[in-house]
Amino acid sequence: MLRSVRSLVRFARPEWRGSRRRLARCGNIDDLRRIAQRRLPAGVFDYIDGAAEDERTMAENAAAYGRVRIEPRILVDVAKVDASTTLLGRRMPYPLALAPTGFTRIAHWEGELAVARAAAKAGLPYALSTLGTRSIEELAAVSDGDKWFQLYVWRDRGLAKELMARAREAGFTCIMPTVDTAVLGRRERDVRRGFTLPPKIGPSTLVDGIRHPAWTWNLVRREPITFSSVAGHVGIDGSTAVALSTYVATQFDPSFSWRDIEWVRSEAGMPVMLKGVQSAADVRTAASIGVDAVVLSNHGGRQFEGAPAPLDLLPEVMDSVGESIEVLVDGGVRRGSDVVKAVRLGARAVLIGRPYLYGLAAAGEEGVSWVISHLTSGIDRTLRLTGAPAIADVVLHRDAAR
Ligand SMILES: Cc1cc2nc3c(=O)[nH]c(=O)nc-3n(C[C@H](O)[C@H](O)[C@H](O)COP(=O)(O)O)c2cc1C
Repeated sequence: MLRSVRSLVRFARPEWRGSRRRLARCGNIDDLRRIAQRRLPAGVFDYIDGAAEDERTMAENAAAYGRVRIEPRILVDVAKVDASTTLLGRRMPYPLALAPTGFTRIAHWEGELAVARAAAKAGLPYALSTLGTRSIEELAAVSDGDKWFQLYVWRDRGLAKELMARAREAGFTCIMPTVDTAVLGRRERDVRRGFTLPPKIGPSTLVDGIRHPAWTWNLVRREPITFSSVAGHVGIDGSTAVALSTYVATQFDPSFSWRDIEWVRSEAGMPVMLKGVQSAADVRTAASIGVDAVVLSNHGGRQFEGAPAPLDLLPEVMDSVGESIEVLVDGGVRRGSDVVKAVRLGARAVLIGRPYLYGLAAAGEEGVSWVISHLTSGIDRTLRLTGAPAIADVVLHRDAAR
């Protein structure tokens, strides 16, 4: 009797570390999102989770993946699968990169450093935002992985030029101008809350802060959050609370246009990838002037509400530019099978934004690593379950092949 009870009951070793305990209970990115929602003040969670206007574009980005079907093939030897690829001449183990996100330390005090370390450990590129809360040099000090610098162009062009030179000096391998942000999209969750960066302390934010003591304690005992790469530039470095829409309207150059891309290319001294391209016509223009790569992206639905889902654009884009330019996509990627679908439809790689921010908020660097391995193991599993040793072997159902 005792023996049979002993064979049935096994006591799990208690996990003392909160981050590990939280991750152990997660099955997918949605679970992480719920933990992030619990741990972050509501205004901060909404800044990360929200999108423009009715948020339909954000929803469509993800829904587009659900419309693509794969036809599993059987009895194929999938003991070994390989999803590795080459991007901008560099080898990577999976067609996955971590997108730039502004103000990352608002999710977790380690911010961009945690993201960069997790990306480097997995051998994946990470793009530091112009509005990053750790500087180009701080990032280079913790990561010898592949680092890209996302560029917003200020009215003061000298600043953009200086940042590109510093990124080059620090060993970054790609300059990524974001081209979908002439003004900020209308993010109505932030409008309603009067959300600023850094958050202003008022009665409602105070209550929010008290209800999230771990987050608040970590915020107040660290150095202030600013746009670290431009620290010391008064009015620009984010040291005074400002609505992001006002910041973008007053600081970034809305006249930035195609003729300036040549200037970026000449200053960059490294490959240039345009992020935020939303039509086949613009991909053709980018290819024709020698841009190295584009990211089909609507900024995760945070900019223009009503743009096509990047995945839906891919077949037309690939038909029209072929191999003449490297094409990536982002927005709505939540599973390894999504990555496989995008790559099978022609993308070189995909980027993720919110998923790693949820992971960061839930469990710091370990949370980011959890997200990466959730996606990479999902890629391998998809290949095995569909009888495809490589992504090129995946058979799309004819509706998706278009
Ligand atoms: C909180 C947050 C901040 C962002 N900040 C930037 C930024 O500074 N620069 C940029 O080019 N894109 C920015 N993005 C967009 C991401 O790079 C990416 O395009 C988007 O998150 C992809 O969609 P996904 O979140 O569904 O993965 C941001 C996205 C989020 C969620």
